[in-house]
Amino acid sequence: MTQGTLYTSAAVCFLCLGAVSTQVFGPGSCPNVNAQSTFNLTRYLGDWFEQYRFYAAFESGQDCAKANYQLKPDGHIRIFNSGFKNGNPVNATGDAYVADPVNAPAKLKLRFSSLAPYGDYWVIDTDYDHYTFIYTCSNVLGLTHYEFAWILTRSPVISEDVKTKLFNEAKALKIDTTHFATQNRTNCPDGIAL
Ligand SMILES: *[C@@H]1O[C@H](CO)[C@@H](O)[C@H](O)[C@H]1NC(C)=O
Ligand SMILES: *[C@@H]1O[C@H](CO)[C@@H](O)[C@H](O)[C@H]1NC(C)=O
Ligand SMILES: *[C@@H]1O[C@H](CO)[C@@H](O)[C@H](O)[C@H]1NC(C)=O
Repeated sequence: MTQGTLYTSAAVCFLCLGAVSTQVFGPGSCPNVNAQSTFNLTRYLGDWFEQYRFYAAFESGQDCAKANYQLKPDGHIRIFNSGFKNGNPVNATGDAYVADPVNAPAKLKLRFSSLAPYGDYWVIDTDYDHYTFIYTCSNVLGLTHYEFAWILTRSPVISEDVKTKLFNEAKALKIDTTHFATQNRTNCPDGIAL
């Protein structure tokens, strides 16, 4: 298992706030993970605070990461991610949509540039009011796979109960929780991150 291998792809970049992202690679094909069977987009909108993300060297300096999801007139979601890197504000605006609302309502497509292809964003488990657990995995030639995972919460601070629940869920799905990295949320500036 190689951590921190560099892989350049705007398509799969979620909160990386740049064109280059570090991904977690694993042997063999993707674990058998599915998105949740129902999804209410309306309830999913609004602010989310990033608590855990898979290890990513390029994100390691980024603190106070936050996401804001708003419905657009065309039914897509406007994604606005913001945070701080080395004390400087950074942000990225993306577009997401549910490709197959009938058969796969919690599988979103997302991109951060109109020039990039859409990547996957699967909602594995959300209760809308407290947490969301997002996961995506891509097979590469049947030999290896790379994956992303995030845990976002409505509250700036994640509760121990939610953390335990979601980490246990991840482990049951054979998602390696040791890849989850936290970030510094101390003294995040008002109005931007808290
Ligand atoms: C989705 O959530 C909204 C807001 O709570 C609610 O009004 C709506 O009925 C829900 N839609 C479905 C299909 O449950
Ligand atoms: C996002 O970043 C750009 C470029 O640094 C900046 O001009 C803009 O004000 C930022 N937007 C917000 C809402 O912070
Ligand atoms: C987190 O950020 C705050 C405010 O910038 C800083 O005072 C604190 O030392 C940082 N903590 C760590 C562990 O980096």
